[in-house]
Amino acid sequence: MRQPMVAGNWKMNGSRRSIQELISGIKRGIGEVSNTEVVVCPPHVYLADVAALLDGSNIAWGAQDLNQHESGAYTGEVSAPMLNDFNCRYVIVGHSERRHINGESDNLVAEKFKAASHAGLKPILCVGELLEERESGKTDKVVARQLGAVLGIMGGARNMTSAVIAYEPVWAIGTGKTASPEQAQAVHQMIRDRLADDDRSAADAIRILYGGSVKAANAADLFGMADIDGGLIGGASLNAEEFLAICRAAEQ
Ligand code: PGA
Repeated sequence: MRQPMVAGNWKMNGSRRSIQELISGIKRGIGEVSNTEVVVCPPHVYLADVAALLDGSNIAWGAQDLNQHESGAYTGEVSAPMLNDFNCRYVIVGHSERRHINGESDNLVAEKFKAASHAGLKPILCVGELLEERESGKTDKVVARQLGAVLGIMGGARNMTSAVIAYEPVWAIGTGKTASPEQAQAVHQMIRDRLADDDRSAADAIRILYGGSVKAANAADLFGMADIDGGLIGGASLNAEEFLAICRAAEQ
């Protein structure tokens, strides 16, 4: 059985003060969530605050990105060992905003995934197609290519069982347009089949989250699908009540 998971990607939002309030709100309501792994991913500069605020709770934290190198002359970058210093459990890699705004290639994302894994962090690998790719029938091809780069560098799915995959159709991110549960399930199943072609038991173990305009109102229907193991939440993770409602939806 895969444990459901809900991860909040705060992106470049918040302040020291607002983050304190958000965390207190989440902590107040988290008692009702027992079976779902809950994770928050703040901006790097707030990791120390978040680690202190969440220490001893059952909410985990992670980073939104990392550099593939361990250390060196990479101005502005943050490495896997640095994230370990702040007890991050997870790190997002290949988010569509990094792929499309920062021009990250499949290969770079795969290198970041490997660096995170080797350092003992659990990568959350984001994959997903653009609207024009969906409309021209290329969804499976694009997602399989993004996944394939990571399978290749890792030497197969058996070396990825602690990782998480997040299917995030780019046209659904921050747009209020969610994939229907059936549309999302079809891609999740394709991803699991690809993993299974490589290693059946790894495919059964790896959690695949859906992301893209998930909110309390649509979470239960999405999470009810066979291959959807929870969500990666952007906008709705900045509101404690909304985020908690999504976490409760993952429990069922
Ligand atoms: P959204 O973002 O929930 O605001 O659509 C999801 C994501 O980018 O991870």
